[in-house]
Amino acid sequence: MVYDNIVLIGFMGSGKTTVGKVLSRYLYKEFVDVDSVVQEQQESSVADIFKENGEEHFRELEQICMNEIGKKKGQVISTGGGLPIYGSLPDKSLVIYIDADFDVILKRLPQRERDKRPLLQDEARARALFNERIGRYRELAHLSVDANQSVSTFIHVIRDFVLDKRVL
Ligand code: S3P
Repeated sequence: MVYDNIVLIGFMGSGKTTVGKVLSRYLYKEFVDVDSVVQEQQESSVADIFKENGEEHFRELEQICMNEIGKKKGQVISTGGGLPIYGSLPDKSLVIYIDADFDVILKRLPQRERDKRPLLQDEARARALFNERIGRYRELAHLSVDANQSVSTFIHVIRDFVLDKRVL
């Protein structure tokens, strides 16, 4: 199998963007963050899009954006946590699940990062969402990596896995 792109999935705040930036440097590939592209295109933050137009509208925007990004090859793509749940990933994606525990995520996420995420505001609901989603993340992933430690401790696991595959 030849893969077009590397796609990072996982719950909000699990570190997909940080991992993606480091990984793209290791692999000399372009890094793209789907949420950042949505925000640039809309000239609005995710929180404001949720507030003004609702979650459903945001889901449409992120899927359109993912489809556009997926037309190119050779990228490391970081997705929003809901994208692989409510939408679909481009064909021929090498999918990596950044697997951090809910309590670890909460502990290491500063308040300003929590504030950016509408679905993290209610802790009990966010925990339930996490529990609902993990099965799907694991199912989709070609590699699930334990991301409860700092990125430097597990980045080589991802790098070695990817280098073993053919990604354009
Ligand atoms: C969401 C995750 C967020 C963002 C939006 C919804 C989700 O991205 O897309 O707040 O449903 O999990 P991160 O995973 O980068 O936080």
